[in-house]
Amino acid sequence: MNTDFMVTNDIRYVGVNDHDIDLFEGQYLVPNGMAYNSYLIMDEKIAVMDTVDIRKKEDFLTNLENALNGNVPDFLVISHIEPDHASSIGAFLEKYPSAKLVGNAKTFQMLALYFDIDPKQTLTVKDGETLSLGRHELQFILTPMVHWPEVMFTYDCLDKVLFSADAFGKFGALDAPEDWTCEARRYYFNIVGKFGMMVQTVLKKAAALDIQAICPLHGPILKENLEFYLNKYQIWSSYQPESEGVFIAYASLHGNTAHAAQKLGELLLAKGCPKAAISDLARDDMAEALEDAFRYGKVVLAASSYNAGVMPFMEDFLHHLKAKNYQNRTIALIENGSWAPSANKAMADILSQMKDITILSQQVTIRGAVKAEDISALETLADELVK
Ligand code: FEO
Repeated sequence: MNTDFMVTNDIRYVGVNDHDIDLFEGQYLVPNGMAYNSYLIMDEKIAVMDTVDIRKKEDFLTNLENALNGNVPDFLVISHIEPDHASSIGAFLEKYPSAKLVGNAKTFQMLALYFDIDPKQTLTVKDGETLSLGRHELQFILTPMVHWPEVMFTYDCLDKVLFSADAFGKFGALDAPEDWTCEARRYYFNIVGKFGMMVQTVLKKAAALDIQAICPLHGPILKENLEFYLNKYQIWSSYQPESEGVFIAYASLHGNTAHAAQKLGELLLAKGCPKAAISDLARDDMAEALEDAFRYGKVVLAASSYNAGVMPFMEDFLHHLKAKNYQNRTIALIENGSWAPSANKAMADILSQMKDITILSQQVTIRGAVKAEDISALETLADELVK
């Protein structure tokens, strides 16, 4: 997908792809880069919808200048001030000093942390207020904590386009040859996942709108089959499992715990489980493991004991889950310990701090290598999991 296209007759994409970034937010692997989306609405008055990460400000300003074709923007609508969208506001204002910044009270409180803005250059809007560009009327919908306090959506009442800030976004540049769901799910649970209740509130507001297209700040513009995307957000934000199957996450010191995890995966499939997704927490992407822990309703945690606790990769993973408000899942525990197995207790202690977590009573303890009696215990566990 190139980055010069029309969303509607009056709305043009002016965002950028970033294939140079290694870690998004300094922590998430983005092998297919990122898109920082920005849009231009051409009417009697001209509005720019958000800027981009300062890493790509030159590309953005060039796209914008080309699209403006000699015109000057009247407004810059700021839906989110996180720097991947707002760090080019200073450069934008240098180039278009007559433009007014449109945001809510929180927007400008927080923007002051990054820029010295003249209050006369701001237009503060409240939830439900509108701004007329001529034929296009923009309605502002405050969506706090999806996923920052100042976030707001904008609805273009003429073209029925929802500018949805980070919601419905994904990792990956617009020219990434990949499906929406996988990278949108990894993005959602790692970045927005903690705020499910706030997302539910937003979905109720969105249900009252006639939406023909969703323009997020990352990822593709969504124009068809919008029910599919709304339904995914409904499942994810309500912490319901999405897919049938079992997710097995393991942290293994010398390979024996890994062997047990793989064996359990085989047993599950042999017993008719539709999917056994397995992740090595020491080597695989932790953000993807977190995504899978939310995706499936049943999760197995298999870990070596370590320092009278649990191997640090597993401990780290559990703290990640807790931080993302992980809940409403069934968990099975497998520990390995040569002289004093301690991993199951350490894992259960962290899980006890999460909401609606059921730990299966069939816990497995392996002492060293996986032996015949361990296979038998794994078989019993697999029976319980496929019930
Ligand atoms: Fe894409 Fe929350 O910034």
